[in-house]
Order: sequence, then C-alpha cells, then structure tokens
Amino acid sequence: MADKGGLEGVVVARSRLCSIDGQKGVLIYGGYDVNDLAEHSTYEEVCFLILRGNLPTAPELDAFTRELAESRALSEETAQVVDMLADHAEPMEMLRTAVSSDSFDDPDKNSNAEDANFRKATRLIAKMPTIVARYDRRRHGLEPIESDPSLPHAANFLRMLSGEEPGQSAAKTFDVALILHADHEMNASTFTARVIASTLSDMHSAITGAIGALKGPLHGGANEQVMKLLEAIGSEDAVDAEIRARLDRKERIMGFGHRVYKTYDPRAVILKRFSRMLAAESSEPYWFSMSEKIEQAVIAEKGLYPNVDFYSASTYHYLGIETGLFTPIFAMSRVVGWAAHVIEQHSDNRLIRPSSEYVGPPPRPYVPIEARGQDAAA
Ligand SMILES: CC(C)(COP(=O)(O)OP(=O)(O)OC[C@H]1O[C@@H](n2cnc3c(N)ncnc32)[C@H](O)[C@@H]1OP(=O)(O)O)[C@@H](O)C(=O)NCCC(=O)NCCS
Repeated sequence: MADKGGLEGVVVARSRLCSIDGQKGVLIYGGYDVNDLAEHSTYEEVCFLILRGNLPTAPELDAFTRELAESRALSEETAQVVDMLADHAEPMEMLRTAVSSDSFDDPDKNSNAEDANFRKATRLIAKMPTIVARYDRRRHGLEPIESDPSLPHAANFLRMLSGEEPGQSAAKTFDVALILHADHEMNASTFTARVIASTLSDMHSAITGAIGALKGPLHGGANEQVMKLLEAIGSEDAVDAEIRARLDRKERIMGFGHRVYKTYDPRAVILKRFSRMLAAESSEPYWFSMSEKIEQAVIAEKGLYPNVDFYSASTYHYLGIETGLFTPIFAMSRVVGWAAHVIEQHSDNRLIRPSSEYVGPPPRPYVPIEARGQDAAA
C-alpha cells in the first residue's frame, strides 16, 4: 500500500449534501455557504435543507418546525433507559445506548423506505436533545424539564438543560453552533453511518454506530479535550512553554489540524467570533484569550490551524455547558447529516466493502495442538 492509509483522498460516495474546499477553507451545505447559513438561517431550516435538498418555503418550514417540536418527547422506555444510565454511564456511552434503544418502539423501525427514513430522522433530531438534557438533569439529581414547543430547537435545549430560558445571544450562539456541526462531508462518523446503511441495516443502527465513531478524541471527542487543555494550561502566561513542551513530546494539540482543511476551518472562524463576544460579557474572559494565544502558538510552531472543536470548547463553556456534554451536543447536531447520508446511501445503494492488503504469514499447514511451540523450544 503506497499511501499513508486512513483512506486519505479516496472517494467513497457521490453526494449532493455537503462539500469542502480544504485549500480555501470553504464549507457548503447543498450549495449554500455555511457563513451565509450561520448568519441568516436557523438549525431547523438547515436540517430541512440537508434532509430535503432545498431551503424550505415558509409553510414548509412551519410544518417541519411543528413536526420537530411535537416529536421531542421520549417514549416511556427510552426515558427509563436514560434514567437508568444517568448514574453510571458517561455521556457518550449513555447517548450511544439510548439512541440504540430508541428504535425498539419506533413505528418505522423495519422500513428503510425514504418516507420512513425521513420520519425517523425527524424524530431522532427532535429527541436527542431531550435525551441529553434529561440525562444531565438526572445525574445531578434534578427533575427533567418538559420541552417548550413554542421555543426553537436550540433555545429549547438550553432551557431543558438549565431550567431557564436563554437570552437572545446565548440562543443565537447555540443555534449557530448547531448549524456549524450539522454536516461535514465524508468524515469518520458519517462514513461509519454510510457503511452500516450500505448493508441495508436501519437508521437507528447507522446513527448508533456513528455516535461510537464520533466519541473518539481524533473526531468529535476533541472538543472536550480542548477544554481540558485550557484548564490544564490555566493561564495565558503558561501557554507558550506548555504548547512547546507538548509538541516536543510529540503530543497532539486537540482542536488543531484536519484531514481536509489545510487552512483555517471556516467553522472555527465563526465560533471564534462567538467565543470572543461571550468572553466580553463574561467574568472569565481568560478562556478566550488563552485560546487565542494557543492558536498563535500552534500556528507558529506547527503551521496547524484550529478546527471546529477548538473554539466550540470555550463557546460552550461560556454558555454554562459542562465539558462532558460537548461531544453529545456535537452528536445532537450532526445527527441530521448522518441521517441524510443514510437516506442518500439507501437511495442508490451498493454494499460498501473495501479490500485489505494481506501482510500476514504465507499459507502453512495446520499444526496439531500437541505439536505447537516445538519449533520455538528446539
Ligand atoms: C484531525 C487529525 C486526526 C487529522 O489528521 P491526519 O490527516 O490523519 O494527519 P496525520 O495524523 O497524518 O498528521 C500529519 C502530521 O501532522 C501532525 N499533527 C496533526 N494534527 C496535529 C495536532 N493536532 N497536534 C500536533 N501535531 C499534529 C502529526 O503528528 C503528523 O506529524 P508527522 O508527519 O511529523 O508525524 C489530526 O489533525 C489530529 O489528531 N488533530 C487533533 C484532534 C482533533 O482536533 N480532532 C478533531 C478534528 S475536526
């Protein structure tokens, strides 16, 4: 195998959903630049775009928003699973298990028809925030908070988490963060979802597998590691020495580097703006200033740019969200991208089954157990 592995540069699907220009730092959903969507759109509208291929008309958006709001409540069984896991499962373990178990009662669980998949996608987008908020409240010994159907997706999640309706800037920030994480071409978790879908397995199985892939620190798990890095460094003055020491030890600086972007990740540019804005309103402005100094140090030392996870860490922290929920929130947002890729895969499917290059021993005769190890002893 001449290449570096990791399927770098290999095209595994033709997709209408999302494209990245890694040299120019451009991200597009269904033809629309993510900068325009972050500025003018909402998560609900972006979900419709990603699932249906076009921005909704006003009546379409009304109907979709209503459908999402009406689908937020959990079945009794899923609620029980979440409650049971609240005391002993970590957030991503809980989410992986709860999403998997949510299929048990899904009326469309045995159908991969496009309509059934749209319904399941809508329900999963709606329910995942309820799962995360319920879990977080239960593990803190608090009663879960019912969704408020009059609130948009982002604001409703923040209210279900804290019990308080968020202010305008918190709600807008979180809505934009959800938009920015909604899809990202053929990343590891999306590829996982498509591989699972390509066996004609179901939506819930594909999303469950994708959550498992997202959990790793080289993928979605990086946002939590960024917050831990900020806490470990502790002050702006310590940034330069600490970054140099970590790089000397050949450690990876979480939130930097990307398989596709060789320049600034456009999502990081937008999140940096929000982190800066929230820092200015906060009594802890140092999380942002420390982040900015780390960015300068890593660019200078290594020529690596921040990715989406870097400024999402301080942004979520400023919104009062615990570090352990950062990756579940990534999943909550990315579920729409995963679901759209599952639908696209099912619409023109061929089993994804690549090959490997065998580098093991050449063919050899079977050795009876009594005779094994004799060569080594001789
Ligand atoms: C995202 C990531 C896995 C992509 O990596 P990739 O395309 O597979 O690139 P490689 O792992 O082959 O790395 C290429 C080189 O850059 C270095 N590198 C990449 N990211 C780095 C980072 N965050 N910190 C330090 N060095 C890094 C590697 O050590 C390697 O150096 P080498 O050639 O001297 O061995 C990688 O950049 C990374 O680990 N980043 C940190 C985790 C993260 O933020 N993930 C979220 C991505 S959105």
